[in-house]
Amino acid sequence: MRRVILDLLRCPRCRKGAVSPDADTAEVLFGPIHCVACHASFPVAEGIADLLVDRAAATGVQKGLEQSLVARSYERYVRPAVQLAVSGHCVDFGSELALYRSMLGKPDGPVLDLGCGTSLFGRKLAASPDMPPVVGLDVSKPMLEESMAQAREAGVMLDLVRAEAPFLPFLDHSLGAVLQTGSLHLIEDADRLFMEVGRALRPGGRYVASTYLPPALWGAALHRRAGLYPRGEEELRGGLTAAGLVCFERMLMPPFILVRAEKAETSRAARGY
Ligand SMILES: C[S@@+](CC[C@H](N)C(=O)[O-])C[C@H]1O[C@@H](n2cnc3c(N)ncnc32)[C@H](O)[C@@H]1O
Repeated sequence: MRRVILDLLRCPRCRKGAVSPDADTAEVLFGPIHCVACHASFPVAEGIADLLVDRAAATGVQKGLEQSLVARSYERYVRPAVQLAVSGHCVDFGSELALYRSMLGKPDGPVLDLGCGTSLFGRKLAASPDMPPVVGLDVSKPMLEESMAQAREAGVMLDLVRAEAPFLPFLDHSLGAVLQTGSLHLIEDADRLFMEVGRALRPGGRYVASTYLPPALWGAALHRRAGLYPRGEEELRGGLTAAGLVCFERMLMPPFILVRAEKAETSRAARGY
């Protein structure tokens, strides 16, 4: 994990302090990192910082996303199969990537790939010379391991953190953008997540997410039982607005919905110049 990313992290236990390695190095591949406030320690192994605390066992669809076989076959088979089942066709990856890139604009600071899975988008963004550093976050260890293996194979520098949203282990105003593709519907407390995104983004930083629209009423209960929380435009707009994000835009591609919002720029008066 590069120092430039390590310096953005916030302790997930006390949610106050920054974290720091034992030695003042440019990169940490192994060894603990410590909270400077509560002194909690977290392991770093193979460049992945494990900031997971107090986690209940995964259930529903998420349980599957934490299986090694699913992680290893995610990009080639699982993701296309899910798209086919949900929408009736496979979405072209290049077009999807181009769309997210244009929605993100030119981030002015590190980009978080939230619920990165195997980092299929994070890896491509990290390989772009005009992108700031990219950090992937996921709760699934097999996904992160596959992510790291693929990034290494592609010769791409990607930093990875294991943590569980809605809480984000990043300091206030530390991120230039947050991209969340295909994982918002796995998070029950989206309002809390949006608050966290608003806290961690720098002024002007964008949040871009893709998820799917709620099905008919009887279907919604089945989805919830599987640990899936699809949301419609108004719910997304309301949550993001309540979190202080502005310039809400949405793109409807039923059953999918893509949204973008950004953290308001602080006024010059508030900044004191
Ligand atoms: C369907 S995959 C999407 C992966 C990738 N972003 C994509 O577009 O294909 C959802 C990912 O979100 C992760 N995830 C689910 N709930 C999460 C949570 N609460 N915190 C962090 N990651 C989570 C899962 O482990 C999984 O890797």
